[in-house]
Amino acid sequence: MSGEEVKPPSEAELAKMDRDQLVELGTKLDGVTLVEYPDPWPVKDTRAEKRAERLVALWFAISGLAGLLFVVSLIWWPWKYEAPDNEHGHFLYSLYTPFLGITLGLAVLGLGVGILLYTKKFIPHELAVQERGDGGSKEVDKATIVAQLADTGTRSTIARRSLIKRSAGLGAAGLGLAAAALPVASFIKDPWKNTDNKESLWHTGWQPEHPGEVVYMRRNTGRPHEVALVRAEDLDAGGMETVFPFRESERHDEEALSAALHRSDNPVMLIRLRPADSARVVKRKGQEDFNFGDYYAYTKLCSHVGCPTSLYEQRTNRILCPCHQSQFDALHYGKPIFGPATRALAQLPITVDDKGYLIARGDFIEAVGPAFWERKS
Ligand code: FES
Repeated sequence: MSGEEVKPPSEAELAKMDRDQLVELGTKLDGVTLVEYPDPWPVKDTRAEKRAERLVALWFAISGLAGLLFVVSLIWWPWKYEAPDNEHGHFLYSLYTPFLGITLGLAVLGLGVGILLYTKKFIPHELAVQERGDGGSKEVDKATIVAQLADTGTRSTIARRSLIKRSAGLGAAGLGLAAAALPVASFIKDPWKNTDNKESLWHTGWQPEHPGEVVYMRRNTGRPHEVALVRAEDLDAGGMETVFPFRESERHDEEALSAALHRSDNPVMLIRLRPADSARVVKRKGQEDFNFGDYYAYTKLCSHVGCPTSLYEQRTNRILCPCHQSQFDALHYGKPIFGPATRALAQLPITVDDKGYLIARGDFIEAVGPAFWERKS
């Protein structure tokens, strides 16, 4: 440790000093003693040096390529669900998410390892001892620290290492492209392009697939392939049951039966009001005939951010969402009366068929669940 008092140079002296002198001055002014300051590659262009350079470049290149692969797979990989019986399609589909994770992870890892290796192999590893000092930076300190940093850059030989510079650029570009692709990818591959079918955000599994198709209400028995339809007399007054869509064409299609139970916007709360409560119902304009007698059906997807509104309180006729405590009034077309939700729960128009089974009279007339960009209300 240096205990000597160093006299700062005058402005004229400072202006005349070259970088080496400034580095030396800077260390002295900071009370720093450089114990070791070795050149990492004192003999230029050795095979070991070239090997180190190629190793750093390799990691940057891995990062860049992985970033590019991430972008390509995010946008163009066959990501749509393919059933297991389509062996090739299902295999590719099952790789989609792992591939995204691996490529983005490699892009970040490659850049990180490249930077670490470059620091380890090319930045001088000086051993310095510095005295503690008080107060802000003076002009002379600023000039000397800039000189020190520039000197470190020069000694790291980055200026003549175009392979590393180019591969680092590729790595940074790939990673930057991957980061930029995340918000814009959905504009290129738009999963909701066809807004008329039940796969879009505007419709649910309750939408008939052709005119005249009957969509029944089905309960979940815990056995995905069992079909248990709901009849009007199945619920007691004041009761609630979660129901799912069922169409005859899917009776023997195990995959479709299972998918109907798992699709997030399919669950509907079927509520049978008590007769006294039923008399107090206020219906929404345009939805006056959506109920069947005392039966009302509301989506189970909260209009706040889409949690399942699973709790129905018979005494107050309130529907509660456990996520952020929104409450909806079942007697008032499911309108929000407490909490952060601002839109009413979408109501499913229902009736019974000639055998007494409860059926939907069509899909919801508005998108269910939380807001999305294209939604106006
Ligand atoms: S998701 Fe229901 S209150 Fe927030």
